[in-house]
Amino acid sequence: MKEKPEIINLPKFLDPRGNLSFIENNKQIPFKIARTYWIYDVPGGETRGGHAYHHLQEFIVALSGSFDVVLNDGNKEYRFNLNRSYYGLYVPKMFWRSMENFSTNSLALVLADNDYKEADYIRDFEKFKLLKNAK
Ligand code: TYD
Repeated sequence: MKEKPEIINLPKFLDPRGNLSFIENNKQIPFKIARTYWIYDVPGGETRGGHAYHHLQEFIVALSGSFDVVLNDGNKEYRFNLNRSYYGLYVPKMFWRSMENFSTNSLALVLADNDYKEADYIRDFEKFKLLKNAK
């Protein structure tokens, strides 16, 4: 398990017929995919996320359009603009994350290393900071 967020470039097969990229478990991304979800039809100005996970790791790709992923480690904020389908952002556990500035028709693909578990969410930023800085 990696400790730091990082942009990961994906394989890219450029082809006049259309380009192709892919992701395999434990190869391009550092975990085995247990769940895939996607965020779409986001109205202008809306923000998604606003939480951290105790254990979950994720990898986020802008399959279409663009948006910002804003991460906070409890002390500092990091903003990543995702706008291509051939790279993505690895988000380790215990980073507060929000997604904002969605362009029209943007599509965010999220790969996660575990099933959906509400108990894994930390939805209170003050609680997150206490937990993070206690480590
Ligand atoms: P949530 O992760 O809270 O979205 P956001 O943080 O972007 O607002 O998910 C919203 C709701 O969707 C959540 O309350 C339950 C449901 N959900 C699932 O059932 N399975 C999933 O894999 C995800 C991501 C969400």
